[in-house]
Amino acid sequence: MKSPRFPPLFTLAHLSDIHLSPVPHAKRRHLLSKRILGYVNWHRGRKYVHRREILDLLTRDLVERKPDHVAVTGDLVNLGLPDEYLRAADWLHHLGPPDAVTAIPGNHDAYVRMHPDTSTRHWQPYMEANADGDALFTTPEAGFPFVRRFGDVGIVALSSAIPTMPFVAAGRIGKAQRSYLANALDTLGREGLFRVVLIHHPPLPGQAGWRRGLRDAKKLSEVLQKHGAELVLHGHNHAQTVRELETVSGPAIVVGVPSASEAVKGHAPAARYNEYNIERAGNGWRVEMVGRAAGSSDHVWECERRVLRER
Ligand SMILES: [Fe+2]
Ligand SMILES: [Fe+2]
Repeated sequence: MKSPRFPPLFTLAHLSDIHLSPVPHAKRRHLLSKRILGYVNWHRGRKYVHRREILDLLTRDLVERKPDHVAVTGDLVNLGLPDEYLRAADWLHHLGPPDAVTAIPGNHDAYVRMHPDTSTRHWQPYMEANADGDALFTTPEAGFPFVRRFGDVGIVALSSAIPTMPFVAAGRIGKAQRSYLANALDTLGREGLFRVVLIHHPPLPGQAGWRRGLRDAKKLSEVLQKHGAELVLHGHNHAQTVRELETVSGPAIVVGVPSASEAVKGHAPAARYNEYNIERAGNGWRVEMVGRAAGSSDHVWECERRVLRER
């Protein structure tokens, strides 16, 4: 007889690359920058790819499934227009309250250099430590990394978002964040927590080219290897990928999720989010990933169910 399974310790949903549409009307002065190229690009093609009705379908499904927590790994907006940040804040509120949703920025959220007060500050309650995280790790003044703790699960949130030249979508973590990250991973590891790292750009060398990749991917992956993590979640590539990185405390599973709004009829991948059922297994952890997808149809389906680690 099959032994009954206990409900998972923690269910974490992960979605990314929202690219919220429609893009609000841009004032002429807002287009005197890199935005003009993005604006043309958006109206020529991207607006047909990032579809609001698909995003709404997926987020409704996600909310109905009541995960314990939701992680949003960046690219909430497109061109960095002031109104886009407000609309994205509204979208976050519909997803859940700040204590149930953690967000980090992507390269599109730092499309042009802007004062935080008129941009990502609108998302601040979603981008800061919770009390249990704060008790373990003090957020540096720059705001990243910050730590949220939910019982046996610790989330370390990074920012790889930097303003770049036109046609460049690269990111960087930088020396300071890498050293704080090392410290946070050590602290959470000593507590015996399941450590989840959130980052917009793919964290491993070779996962994206020079124009689009994380400039310090090699150094970041060395930090992860030396200090350990259990799960690393990212976006940016708009594709589903699963990698393993051997670390001092066993394998870190590195998963990239497709965009939550990108769905072109007949093209793979469909818009998708992933759900992680995390539970203790002996001295380690069992992690099951469930993929939920939406394409051109009016329903969301389970596109994948896979155990990522058993120990
Ligand atoms: Fe993106
Ligand atoms: Fe991106």
